[in-house]
Amino acid sequence: MPRDKRVENRTREMAMNLALFSLFLGVAIVFAIVPTIIGGGYGDEDCGDLLGNDVYKDRCPEAEAIIYAGVRLAVFEDPRMAASLLRLHFHDCFVNGCDASVLLDDNDNFVGEKTAAPNLNSLRGFEVIDAIKQDLEIVCPQTVSCADILAVAARDSVVVSGGPSWDVQMGRKDSFTASKSLANNNIPGPNSTVATLVSKFQNVNLSLKDMVALSGAHTMGKARCTTFTARLQGSTNPNGPDSSLEYVQSLQRLCSESDGNMLANLDLATPATFDNQYYLNLLSGEGLLLSDQNLATGDDQTRELVETYAQDPSAFFEDFKDSMVKMGSLGAVTTMNGEIRRDCRSVN
Ligand code: HEM
Repeated sequence: MPRDKRVENRTREMAMNLALFSLFLGVAIVFAIVPTIIGGGYGDEDCGDLLGNDVYKDRCPEAEAIIYAGVRLAVFEDPRMAASLLRLHFHDCFVNGCDASVLLDDNDNFVGEKTAAPNLNSLRGFEVIDAIKQDLEIVCPQTVSCADILAVAARDSVVVSGGPSWDVQMGRKDSFTASKSLANNNIPGPNSTVATLVSKFQNVNLSLKDMVALSGAHTMGKARCTTFTARLQGSTNPNGPDSSLEYVQSLQRLCSESDGNMLANLDLATPATFDNQYYLNLLSGEGLLLSDQNLATGDDQTRELVETYAQDPSAFFEDFKDSMVKMGSLGAVTTMNGEIRRDCRSVN
């Protein structure tokens, strides 16, 4: 073959190789960058593309141990705190997803969620989250989101109270804003019918079964008299009495002496233990909130689940874990619209 021809062939071959290499590089970049944009650079197991396991394994391996230590200390000092931290995560997730919006104080741009009706004079645990965040900022600055702290603290609260454990998916980002009106709208009230409860959960893609399982969180903690005045009347069942008279009378006595802020245990039998006692209480007419008692009396489907969980604690634990993971993945905020706050009470 003439030399000119050989040079021409060689040049063509090199051009092809270069084109192939560029194509390969392009594909590699797309594969590397797209998950980072979508998932904030985190793993992508299970919960859509956004959350993953082992997210802090390299960047903050101590994260979960620090959170666990903070929860343990707080619950040791105040046993009710386990319930309060569990509820904090729920109230976070139901408003624009689990993005720590619930932790933001009011500022010039918005009124936060802390003064919304379901939260005012009611939500607790903000100082515990602040203390955990401060510890984390010392060890791994601006690495662990406040929303992830809430999710892990909720799990740990269940664990230290004797309940099940599960892997918490992480990689949530913290929001830039909060919504008082959505907090008022999305979080169900204590006099809700089953239909209302189902629709409020369906609004955030959680099922009737998720609702009944997650309501089992009321196996811990307390409620104010203002939230269960409907129960002081006794019967919630149009077909006849459904509540233990003795129970209703004891609540009447408690609340008659107060300004509405007196507290009763949500689970009258084992108030500081995470177990299935809540469902047994519902079956004996001793659910504290009307919305709780309605699960046993207001609907056949919810009643069936209440009976299952009352008979089988491990069925309750399994479903509770699954539903917590589902709730914890609500609206995970991505790099595009979230950040890792330095202080959980304010945007950076
Ligand atoms: C199904 C609809 C729900 C309604 C209507 C409801 C309503 C309430 C109300 C009214 C209180 C008492 C608040 C007060 O008196 O200050 C309360 C407490 C509590 N809620 Fe719920 N809740 C629901 C679901 C949930 C879920 C899904 C969770 C968690 C997964 C949860 C966890 C708790 C806990 C642990 C407490 C006690 C908090 C403490 O002692 O500080 N609740 N809830």
